[in-house]
Amino acid sequence: MDLTVDLFGTSFRNPVLLAAGTCGFGEELAAVAELDRLGGLVTKSVTLEPRAGNPAPRVAEFGAGMVNSVGLANPGASAVRRERLPWMRDHLEGLQVFVSVAGHTPEEFFEVVEILEDGPGFLGFELNLSCPNDARRGGLPFALDPEELARVVEGARDRTARPLLVKLAPNTPAWSPVVRAAEESGADGLTLVNTMPGLVLDPFSRGPLLGAGAGGMSGPALRAVGVHAVWSAARLTELPLVGVGGIARGSDAAQYLLAGASLVQIGTASFWDPRAAERVVKELGEFVAGQGVARVTELVGGARMPGSGEDGVRRKPDQNPKLEG
Ligand SMILES: Cc1cc2nc3c(=O)[nH]c(=O)nc-3n(C[C@H](O)[C@H](O)[C@H](O)COP(=O)(O)O)c2cc1C
Repeated sequence: MDLTVDLFGTSFRNPVLLAAGTCGFGEELAAVAELDRLGGLVTKSVTLEPRAGNPAPRVAEFGAGMVNSVGLANPGASAVRRERLPWMRDHLEGLQVFVSVAGHTPEEFFEVVEILEDGPGFLGFELNLSCPNDARRGGLPFALDPEELARVVEGARDRTARPLLVKLAPNTPAWSPVVRAAEESGADGLTLVNTMPGLVLDPFSRGPLLGAGAGGMSGPALRAVGVHAVWSAARLTELPLVGVGGIARGSDAAQYLLAGASLVQIGTASFWDPRAAERVVKELGEFVAGQGVARVTELVGGARMPGSGEDGVRRKPDQNPKLEG
């Protein structure tokens, strides 16, 4: 059975990647997990200047997932270019790596891309336009403002020839404007979704569980939101989609593929079990075999939704105008 995915002019060993911010640059996990069983990884978001991050505690569990407010702690673009990219080149061979980029202004994104563009050890960029803990300076997060989103993507596009993923927010009020803005400004693919703004209070102390107060919610509670986001985007664009949110099992990954994702990412599940992503690869293989299909890619877009054909073939928006937007 074939789990490979050919995309962005290259081949992924399988569709399972580690999600941004949950695996650093791979160093820590490489010691405890067999990363070469995965399709790839997305790095911690890299900003122009080093960031120390938010006060502890930075992550906290609740019944259906986790909240975090890490504050994009990272060594900054120049140190990443000097130290982390060569490490990834030497240790992550065979993995398809995306460097996640974040910033407060479009110009900060552009500078990070310029600093890293000619570096070794990675395939492409993922633009983090949707971090709930690190909003754009003044105004909405980039991912919720189609014009600002387009400015960042266009500027990044001008500065890189590499595959460019745009990461969108789960609390997007309407998908059509942001999907179109990303597509028209030069994105090669969309990643859906980032964490959802969330707050967990300790009712006795009356304070938040996180040192920073509110944070981003991830884990199982996010899965239905993420699958819906992928399914919605798949009706609007032919761009490849990357599904993320609450994946802990092979069958969870399969839901995202059926909704229209070509790749998936695992975040929170790695905190509970550092080898969760490897297990998801194995379970997805078993699922594919059980479905009697030869290639994992045959699942992509195969959801049988009311109003879609029995074949589950995804309809273009103009074939199904009710669902647009
Ligand atoms: C502790 C933590 C840190 C994260 N940091 C980043 C980050 O730096 N950049 C980013 O784009 N997403 C970040 N995310 C979001 C994840 O990449 C992912 O989109 C989200 O957690 C949903 O997936 P999950 O439910 O599998 O965790 C972070 C998530 C967690 C839990």
